[in-house]
Amino acid sequence: MKKVSVSFTLNGDPVTAEVPITWSLLKTFREYFELNGAKKGCGVGECGACTVIVDGDAVSSCLYPIPEIEGRSVTTIEGIASAEGALHPLQKAFIENNGVQCGYCTSGMIMSAKSLLDQNPDPTEDEIRTSISGNFCRCTGYIQIVEAIGMAAKENDRKELLTK
Ligand code: FES
Ligand code: FES
Repeated sequence: MKKVSVSFTLNGDPVTAEVPITWSLLKTFREYFELNGAKKGCGVGECGACTVIVDGDAVSSCLYPIPEIEGRSVTTIEGIASAEGALHPLQKAFIENNGVQCGYCTSGMIMSAKSLLDQNPDPTEDEIRTSISGNFCRCTGYIQIVEAIGMAAKENDRKELLTK
């Protein structure tokens, strides 16, 4: 099968991958880079389990053609903890607020929420709900998930106050 070589930034590091031209970004994460945080649920852009951030926006990596990633900046769930290993405020809030049940939707939920909080640090509950409207949770933990994202937003506020 014809291959393509793509160079992009992955979790802050420059990377190059040579993979079949038909692969998606999700398949490239999982099978080339062995990053398994983004999950394959539906594979057709409907469940959000594969959500990652590309140039600031949450995208479904299962639908993202690998040639289009050239030159872009990608963040996956593996890239949001600090360099010292401290969990991201969203990861902490999901744990503290019981926002995780089986966990299959969790990385996608967190990446959608991270894209929201990066662009809007003080979202309303409606904005939080809209941000995860493309993420399905089969364990029906939506209330805890929405509350966890709100909790993380408050933490972001506190951190901003501390640094002023
Ligand atoms: S696996 Fe990508 S949206 Fe479902
Ligand atoms: S925690 Fe199981 S699918 Fe969401």
